[in-house]
Amino acid sequence: MADSLTIRRPDDWHVHLRDGAMLHGVVAHTARQFARAIVMPNLSPPVTATAAAQAYRERILAALPDGLPFEPLMTAYLTDHTDPADLVRGKGEGVLTAAKLYPANATTNSAHGVSDIRHLAPVLGAMEQAGLVLCVHGEVTDAEVDMFDREAVFIDRHLQWIVREFPALKVVLEHVTTEDGVQFVEAAGPTVAATITPQHLHLNRNAMLVGGMRPHAYCLPVAKRERHRIALRKAATSGSAKFFLGTDSAPHPRHDKESSCGCAGIFNAPFALESYLQVFDDEGALDRFESFASLNGPAFYGLPINEATVTLVRGGVQVSDEIAAGETVIVPFHAGETLRWRLASG
Ligand code: DOR
Ligand code: ZN
Repeated sequence: MADSLTIRRPDDWHVHLRDGAMLHGVVAHTARQFARAIVMPNLSPPVTATAAAQAYRERILAALPDGLPFEPLMTAYLTDHTDPADLVRGKGEGVLTAAKLYPANATTNSAHGVSDIRHLAPVLGAMEQAGLVLCVHGEVTDAEVDMFDREAVFIDRHLQWIVREFPALKVVLEHVTTEDGVQFVEAAGPTVAATITPQHLHLNRNAMLVGGMRPHAYCLPVAKRERHRIALRKAATSGSAKFFLGTDSAPHPRHDKESSCGCAGIFNAPFALESYLQVFDDEGALDRFESFASLNGPAFYGLPINEATVTLVRGGVQVSDEIAAGETVIVPFHAGETLRWRLASG
């Protein structure tokens, strides 16, 4: 039984770093674990254009503690009014790595999202030409669709169409949560991949709802029934190049989560690698962790793998009950638990 694992430095292909005091409070947690991260643009107001992405990138770099190397990879938030030429320019200038599709009102700060995906055709065509990756929040928002079905319905109604109409567009089904999603990605060509969060590997909907409602286990897409969690664990640990690490770390102040209308989002950045590695250990797949965490993402995005390495060692790490971020406190994923692996060096 291996007691230590050294891998190329991983990247996080989906993270929410926020802005202002919250950004200052959380960015180091991600930068300690990851070399690069795809930074989500759902600020208020959202980051919808290249100039705004460039300015946000500079704010992220300025919020890093001195000497901590970290490269934010920026995304633009697609709206009904996105200018395709601006995206193409942003990609050409090296500012934008991807653009994010939020169906309108799917999640936190997504009110400006896309109201009719078919109307995005000129934007998606331009992205396909320019080689700009499309990151998708894959849930429909129609009131009549049950929230546990929203991912599967999105795949049928929209994702199939996107992949068919834009065969060379690189598409990431972000934070896949269902067996349907896994099967769709596996059956699609090499232009389609998915990120998987640690929480969807650890939690099913019982973990959120049985014995009391646990707001800190609530995120979107919501955790599904056990068979879906098992499918996700299989996909993540399968060695398939189509699945890679994306934490969807989404910090909210404790009081906004523990509320009569609690926010969606799980803050997993402080111990993300430890959390994922426990799953790979339980699945007997330690030898596949490097592909998932450090190799598959760069290959899909057409970026080099990181030169540096990190080492994780067996031996517990205690996750604190809460983490301070500026004036506020956040309850991290695994709060109060002991994880079996810990990051020894970066
Ligand atoms: O749970 C979530 N929180 N899911 C998302 O898609 C957005 C995120 C956030 O920004 O809080
Ligand atoms: Zn997200």
